[in-house]
Amino acid sequence: MAELMGNLRRTVYCGELSIKNVGANVTVTGWVQKRRNFGSLIFIDLRDKSGLVQIVFDSSANAELFEKASVIRSEYVLAVSGAVRERENKTDKIATGDIEILVSELKILAEADTTPFEILDDTDVNENLRLKYRYLDLRRPVLQNNIFMRHKVTKATRNYLDALDFCEIETPMLGKSSPEGAREYLVPSRIHPTCFYALPQSPQLYKQLLMVSGFDRYYQITKCFRDEDLRANRQPEFTQIDLEMSFVEKIEDVLYPVEGLIKAIFKETIGLDLGSEHFRQMPYKEAMERFGSDKPDTRFGLELKDVSNIASKTDFKVFKDALSINGIVKGSVRAINAKGFASKLSRKDIDGLVEFVKTLGAKGLAWISHPQGQEVKGSILKFLTEETLKEFSDALNFEEGDVLFFAADKDAVVFNTLGGLRLHLAEKYGLIDKNSYDVLWITEFPMFDYSEEEGRFVAVHHPFTAPFDEDIELCLTDPQKARAKAYDIVINGQEAGGGSIRIHRRDVQEKMFSVLGFTPEDVKERFGFFVEAFRYGAPPHGGLALGLDRLVMLLTKTDSIKEVIAFPKVQTASCLMTGAPDLVEEKQLNELHVQPISKK
Ligand code: AMO
Ligand code: AMP
Repeated sequence: MAELMGNLRRTVYCGELSIKNVGANVTVTGWVQKRRNFGSLIFIDLRDKSGLVQIVFDSSANAELFEKASVIRSEYVLAVSGAVRERENKTDKIATGDIEILVSELKILAEADTTPFEILDDTDVNENLRLKYRYLDLRRPVLQNNIFMRHKVTKATRNYLDALDFCEIETPMLGKSSPEGAREYLVPSRIHPTCFYALPQSPQLYKQLLMVSGFDRYYQITKCFRDEDLRANRQPEFTQIDLEMSFVEKIEDVLYPVEGLIKAIFKETIGLDLGSEHFRQMPYKEAMERFGSDKPDTRFGLELKDVSNIASKTDFKVFKDALSINGIVKGSVRAINAKGFASKLSRKDIDGLVEFVKTLGAKGLAWISHPQGQEVKGSILKFLTEETLKEFSDALNFEEGDVLFFAADKDAVVFNTLGGLRLHLAEKYGLIDKNSYDVLWITEFPMFDYSEEEGRFVAVHHPFTAPFDEDIELCLTDPQKARAKAYDIVINGQEAGGGSIRIHRRDVQEKMFSVLGFTPEDVKERFGFFVEAFRYGAPPHGGLALGLDRLVMLLTKTDSIKEVIAFPKVQTASCLMTGAPDLVEEKQLNELHVQPISKK
């Protein structure tokens, strides 16, 4: 029978005890991690959020208490009092391994059934089982640390931004649909039949309106909702550290305070000093051309090189076709020199890489290898003259021991192929120093991207991002060349945040909408309230949002976003613990004027 704590109130956390406490009488509370019964002695590792401590029941010291303790099992909840004493068999497996508590009083606060899995940090239990019993999973210290890390990050953020005069303001969760960007989550209205609210993909419009209102500096740590395919670093609901500033014009007006914020977060959470220098800025074009990605991991080499010129001289049809049709430039041929990889990669490994890049959309992967002391070999050697091979070798610094990989296609495919191959090789062959942090800004993003699917230009960032002042006219004449005052912060190859200087001039905003193919009616219908606000005096402004979950992943060196969110969703956007999403009662649907098309 579970007992009340009564006067047995905690005086200290389990993990806080040390040799200094020897002789003291303490009361600790927690869960039973492990229990060993040696006949006349029972040892229990008691766990709370701070760690473990060993407690001892000695039948020769108190037979009645020993009897009571003999029913205790794993995960029972206890309160115990006793004297701290030095341990005979010290251990460094737990932080409190020098001491133990000889129990003189015990309350069994709750019994526990056998848990579906053992609560251990090092667990190979199936993830779905862990997620079904997430409240048990969250007892594991590693997960508790991740969740505490979130708290530390938000605390450091609030302190830092408060000192810079930012004001935290909440914006609505029930908003108006604005279908530009990811698919939205909709909420049916009971009072307005057939009408829907949309959950925010981000507070973008509201925060800009707060600038129009004169709040000057806003921030919010807030949930955002996006109905998109889940990945290792994506959840349908996630958290942004969202901010916006007025009277900013240059991108650095936003970048520098954000650099300060990131440095403060790293310092206060993991004690890492990111230095006093500004973070590097790399234009989008350079990032794509050198690393094949707009979120490059620059902790290792394997950089891309454009070898289209040399490739055009070969008789290899794949290269020729990729480069031009009837003399019109189509794509490119680019290559990576995998220095010293000839001895690492067997023929089978290379075939594996060809298959791998096909999953990235490539049609193939051409290669040339020069194993030490052997002849040069490779899939395209037969198409190369000695001269072109030499030209490739010079351009790519190809030496004995190296392997060259070539991709030929439209630029987007080539970048994706070689960018992906580069990461794959680095991961597989341990080229990345996992203890280092590599932080940089990607700038000068293009304003527009042409969507074949929609047959129109779409905004790369969002429709409110300002173009470079000198590129305003280009937006109309040659949209694909126009650059945006947008920026992403990339940490270790992850997009940790992004933002832009906004358009605050109505004429420029109208140009943007026209390039995006919105008629004045579309604009009125979708963003009428927003555009109208800008008629009444909008200050120049800009901002950014950091992905809190991704920051915590980086700080805790975790690969899966699920490990840093208390109650995450799985690939199918379901919560395995609660069973959400689920069917609802017909009565609820009727009230909402919703008729299901089909049932599960
Ligand atoms: P953006 O869409 O780039 O910008 O989002 C900002 C940051 O949020 C994080 N993020 C995500 N994290 C987890 N799961 C997701 N599904 C997910 N989607 C985005 C990323 C990303 O860099 N309103 C603009 C910001 C602005 O212009 O101020 C915005 O939302 O780390
Ligand atoms: P094939 O002549 O089609 O057998 O191709 C010869 C080599 O070129 C093989 O190694 C293919 O993987 C490679 N290859 C095919 N398509 C491409 C491409 N688009 N880019 C680079 N290499 C390719």
